Amino acid sequence: MHEVTVSENQTLLDTLREQLGLTGSKKGCDTGACGACTVLIDGKPALSCLTLSIRAQNKPILTIEGLAQNGQLHPLQKAAVQYGAIQCGFCTPGWMMSAKALLDRNPSPAEIDVRKAISGNLCRCTGGVKIVESVLAASKGQAA
Ligand code: FES
Ligand code: FES
Repeated sequence: MHEVTVSENQTLLDTLREQLGLTGSKKGCDTGACGACTVLIDGKPALSCLTLSIRAQNKPILTIEGLAQNGQLHPLQKAAVQYGAIQCGFCTPGWMMSAKALLDRNPSPAEIDVRKAISGNLCRCTGGVKIVESVLAASKGQAA
């Protein structure tokens, strides 16, 4: 639980990055086009660059910083490394949060489900194939 004072037009992304020091969520476009700022609010993916902080008040927010638990990487994180789904890494926190929301509601997704879930997360480096493979591997427990 974090308590911060924000201005009424302040975005959640700016609050996370600038006030709370949680810089995992990235500011790519700041216009809702790239998905790099994706976080989970109440378990659902949200673009934090388009979300006013006051709208997120008293709601559970999960960022990439909260994905690993007790020093253990999340299966999505393990699979991303194993399957070469990370190059520059700028898009990674965003698509990983979208994928986390997907696996939470559908632990055995088909490839099309994965593609749909991360369709709002742009990656300039990987072409997306490795990302999809890694999410599917994570869902099947294939990440070492
Ligand atoms: Fe939010 Fe690009 S920074 S969608
Ligand atoms: Fe570079 Fe996706 S790994 S933008």
